[in-house]
Amino acid sequence: MTNNKISPNVVWQEGVISRADREKINQHRGVVLWFTGLSGSGKSTLSHAVEKRLHQQNAHTYVLDGDNVRHGLCGDLGFSNIARRENIRRIGEVSKLFVDAGMIVLTAFISPFREDRAIVRNLHQKGDFIEVYCAASLDTCAARDVKGLYQRAKQGEIKEFTGISSPYEMPENAELTIDTGEYTLDESVEMVINALKEKNIL
Ligand code: ADX
Repeated sequence: MTNNKISPNVVWQEGVISRADREKINQHRGVVLWFTGLSGSGKSTLSHAVEKRLHQQNAHTYVLDGDNVRHGLCGDLGFSNIARRENIRRIGEVSKLFVDAGMIVLTAFISPFREDRAIVRNLHQKGDFIEVYCAASLDTCAARDVKGLYQRAKQGEIKEFTGISSPYEMPENAELTIDTGEYTLDESVEMVINALKEKNIL
């Protein structure tokens, strides 16, 4: 699924308006904030809260959220290792389009495999991919059990559930690690905003 062999006669078409043109109007750089972590680790909550803060500053933003994207673009994918890889590959490509559009795209996917995240990182230009690890422990996430999925997974009702019956490989070199069990939402948002300022994105 990852090669282009079934559509070989395609030629890249350069646009008239460049990414730099769009960024000039947006008054900030395009970038992807790639939130990763267990289900219930706060990826969605944090990414939406960061988006709200950025939006208040007139930044051009969009959140791609695992549960939502699986209703449409990735609705044909399950949770096997291969399906997850394809999920992340597609979102990686979509996030690249958003960055080219000069936007700040925030992605909230478990994205459990290091190699898959590395593939997305390498798809982007250096500095365009900011990995944010939502580092809440499995115990914290399972205790929160916001969607009641951990309990069902422990009872064997949900197969291949991340942290229970499918692995999560934590990042080794994330640009930002936030223990969402330790910090308040406001504090966590502040950390992300500060990172964007430090990297001259804003
Ligand atoms: S990923 O592993 O491919 O990155 P993604 O972030 O898109 O996963 O979807 C995870 C969401 O799907 C979870 O937050 C949860 O609500 C739901 N889900 C349903 N089944 C599973 C499962 N087996 N493992 C993990 N999440 C699941």
